[in-house]
Amino acid sequence: MSAFKTLDDLPQDLSGQRALVRVDLNLPMKDGQATDLTRVTAVAPTILELADRGAKVLLLAHYGRPKGERHSTMSISMVQGDLERVLDREVMFIPEVAGPVAAQAIDILRPGDIGLMENVRFWPGEEANDADFAKSIAANGDFYVNDAFSAAHRAHASTEALAHLLPAYAGRAMEKELKALDAALGTPQPPVAAVVGGAKVSTKLAVLENLSRKVQHLVIGGGMANTFLAANGVHVGMSLCEHDLTDTARAIMDAADAAGCTIHLPYDVVVAKEFAANPPSMRVCNVHEVAADEMILDIGPLAVEALGDVLKTCATLVWNGPLGAFETPPFDEATVALAKTAAALTQAGALVSVAGGGDTVAALAHAGVAEDVTYISTAGGAFLEWMEGKELPGVAALSA
Ligand code: 3PG
Repeated sequence: MSAFKTLDDLPQDLSGQRALVRVDLNLPMKDGQATDLTRVTAVAPTILELADRGAKVLLLAHYGRPKGERHSTMSISMVQGDLERVLDREVMFIPEVAGPVAAQAIDILRPGDIGLMENVRFWPGEEANDADFAKSIAANGDFYVNDAFSAAHRAHASTEALAHLLPAYAGRAMEKELKALDAALGTPQPPVAAVVGGAKVSTKLAVLENLSRKVQHLVIGGGMANTFLAANGVHVGMSLCEHDLTDTARAIMDAADAAGCTIHLPYDVVVAKEFAANPPSMRVCNVHEVAADEMILDIGPLAVEALGDVLKTCATLVWNGPLGAFETPPFDEATVALAKTAAALTQAGALVSVAGGGDTVAALAHAGVAEDVTYISTAGGAFLEWMEGKELPGVAALSA
């Protein structure tokens, strides 16, 4: 991990200094109401610390994909109330991100006040990473803080260009995230296990390729496992399977073998003739006994036990994606069981466990162990790109 500055590198007293703080307030919404405030809670420590140190805190954030135009339904003012409740402070909405109106509003703020600037994606310069647009924002700041890891895979003006125009610092959430991710894949304690689940190999090819070079144990679950089983000559019946990718799966297995990484595929599975909750046709069988009219919906109890034993030999775990169709019971059982093992090992101090991605966060919360793993990242695309081994532009700019 390259070096980056944190809030500890700023003077303690920031009285009246204008802090431009990039946060991710792209919250899941239903009928104009946020359904999950995790991202707000995550950035609250940075905002409160800067405010308490006397800075004028100017929040920059995006919502949705308005493609460079103002849309009243995508105004970031939607989250002003949630922000005020979580912070327990007043937040002033500023309907611009640059120019005289923004400058005037920022002038009025007192040291320690918090301003929320309009959805930065209303301006085309944001996604274009336009230098002039970034300069117009920078004109209203004395320093820049990025606390939005989940938007760091975007090379946009507020995530990338700004970091080159002002002294740049990682916020507390970003700092925590980068340290956790470094401990999981950057400079991890070996042996390292990776659990990668999800429906399709095609969406996680680069992840599998990168991990097979870096970890000692690669557990493949979800629909993806079926493609690997098929590549091994297993008849997977009606299971979700990308038959056109079996050669790719074979190549990943060969590369893993050459790199000394053991790929773990289930040898028993839970199958059914229809995909529904508790279907009458459900049964557990060996992977070689799946009938032509059955589909694999979860990995079996023997495979779960074997994977638990693998985790017991490992010092580090990185997890993305469920092992089965976990939203439909009882096909959540393998994911829940392995999550509980990972959590118990973590709590016993035997495992550093880092998990990320929307489905994974939901799966761990469903297993009741969200609090018991070392770190959970709420980043979606950014977490996947990090697992692919890519350098994230927003992170790279902080280290430049
Ligand atoms: C996210 O929700 O994953 C981030 O806010 C990034 O959003 P985007 O995919 O629209 O860039």
